[in-house]
Amino acid sequence: MRRSGNTVDSSVKVNWSIIRELIPFLKEYQLRIAFALLCLILAKLSTIVMPFALKYMVDILGNSETTGSVEVPAYLPEWVMAPFALVIAYGFFRFSNVLFGELRDTIFSRVTERAIRRVSLKVFRHLHALDIGFHLNRRTGGLARDIERGTHGINFLMRFMVFNIIPTIIEISMVISILLTQYGLWFGLVTFGSVICYGIFTVLVTNWRNKYIRAANDADSASSTRAIDSLLNYETVKYFTNEDYEARRYDVDLSVWENAKLKNRFSLFALNAGQALIISLAITALMYLTVHNVIKGNMSVGDLVLVNAFMMQLFMPLNFLGFVYREIRTALVNIENMFTLLHKKPAIVDPEKEELLKSTDPLPIRFNNVSFSYHHDRPILIDISFDIKAQQTVAIVGSSGAGKSTIAKLLLRFYDPTNGVITIGQQNIKKITQNSLRSSIGVVPQDAVLFNDTIYQNILYGNPGATRQEVENAIRMAHLSHFIEQLPDGLETLVGERGLKLSGGEKQRVAIARALLKKPPIMIFDEATSSLDSESEQAILEAIKEITGQYTSLVIAHRLSTIIQADKIIVMDKGRVIESGTHSELVALDGRYAQLWNAQRKQGDHEK
Ligand SMILES: Nc1ncnc2c1ncn2[C@@H]1O[C@H](COP(=O)(O)OP(=O)(O)OP(=O)(O)O)[C@@H](O)[C@H]1O
Ligand SMILES: [Mg+2]
Repeated sequence: MRRSGNTVDSSVKVNWSIIRELIPFLKEYQLRIAFALLCLILAKLSTIVMPFALKYMVDILGNSETTGSVEVPAYLPEWVMAPFALVIAYGFFRFSNVLFGELRDTIFSRVTERAIRRVSLKVFRHLHALDIGFHLNRRTGGLARDIERGTHGINFLMRFMVFNIIPTIIEISMVISILLTQYGLWFGLVTFGSVICYGIFTVLVTNWRNKYIRAANDADSASSTRAIDSLLNYETVKYFTNEDYEARRYDVDLSVWENAKLKNRFSLFALNAGQALIISLAITALMYLTVHNVIKGNMSVGDLVLVNAFMMQLFMPLNFLGFVYREIRTALVNIENMFTLLHKKPAIVDPEKEELLKSTDPLPIRFNNVSFSYHHDRPILIDISFDIKAQQTVAIVGSSGAGKSTIAKLLLRFYDPTNGVITIGQQNIKKITQNSLRSSIGVVPQDAVLFNDTIYQNILYGNPGATRQEVENAIRMAHLSHFIEQLPDGLETLVGERGLKLSGGEKQRVAIARALLKKPPIMIFDEATSSLDSESEQAILEAIKEITGQYTSLVIAHRLSTIIQADKIIVMDKGRVIESGTHSELVALDGRYAQLWNAQRKQGDHEK
């Protein structure tokens, strides 16, 4: 649905020094670059020679008309026997021009693609290193576009530098110096002057045009964003039968785009017409000079052909100048945007001294006066302290929004607490690498999301090195076997985008199997069985219980019946711990927990 990239306004400051940042990515292929440049020069030399072959041909043939025999003019070397030799030379140089051009492209494309590969990988790794705060605030679409535009920018910049800008500069200087030395000052001056006028005109008009191009591109993004958003919300559109409403809104955007494109087209007309005028004036002036000289006998008819051919060749690449100038500015801005991503510092960083978690056995966990807020003016956790002994299970219960999942996120170090310390074993989790920390924790998150891949691959993700047998064990423990047997494609069934083709409970069980396969010393279950019916829930809890004792676990639950057996239950409210103890202690305490318990038991009785 995207029709074009963005364009930067003339007011945007373009950071030309970004080119320097690209140089390290080119170092790998210095020899290749040298070869490409050599081919480039050879290709240009061939084009410069061609008009000369034409000139001599015309001169020889012109002489033969007046004298009746083919005579080689005195200024040509003796071995040029006949115009046929020149015809062959002309054909040869035409071919070698194309050949060297193609060689240059082929040799150089590897350089561009390798640089893009290196940069893309670097950005990708960096994005995974950035903290969750960054990722929650970004829009995936926008980010993907930044990267796409950035790599596209690199591609464009490198290609046009090598294939358009450098060759054009070489050609212009060669032509001007040839005209100067062969035909004198005026020829050189007119050519030089027209190239300069052409350049200035193009840059000025291109800058003026930018607002139209920008408007067209903005309208383009707006309409495609609208279309994508609408299609992503396919189901919601259907719930409210708003297809027509969506179509009308889309059409409004499309009409804006249509009008913007029209203005853009008019401005392009102005640019092209002006450029054509400058070129025509220059060629006319030079032809006038040449004809004048031919009449006076200072030049031959061949010279007329030569000058004309040079001019044609010279202005052809200049035709693209406006486009190239604009696109290079755009490319530089896009590359800079992408590099800004690279310069973004993650909020959560590994300690300088990269320690690992000392043991891979189940370890005790301790929260010590931990406070936390996502935004500084809204505290979410206030002075939380509790500990989980090694191999024990601690459950957290409390109302929605109390901060339960946040506790799990702090333990995983997705965020750092504003106050207080979290330790595993004796180690502050800030002092160990994130990798070491997270590889020791298995998580079944509150809303499990799956990759758009097969069930098997999704489970294997928990431990990509696991054997098929281990995967099947995990499936059995998560009570998925029955479900998978029913599927025509079994384990190879694709789960759809984010796992949406599975039911909530099935998705949860895949997530449980995935976490169990990891076999970590610490487990977090955040409402891991909330979408299951009581029967499946009990079955899974039994299965999990068999292996508890193999890990330290933190269980977050709404349904209290699932956590009666926990070694300790923590009751949270509005970011604070208000009660804690075993099930029977808390019931005896007759506080909030007892209230919840009674309410849920009554409801349970009711359901029976
Ligand atoms: N990334 C975030 N940025 C800002 N606020 C957040 C963020 N994540 C959660 N919150 C807020 O923090 C509070 C605690 O959220 P949390 O997910 O820990 O609640 P919870 O106890 O797990 O609730 P539930 O039982 O509904 O899952 C909520 O009010 C929520 O709106
Ligand atoms: Mg939660």
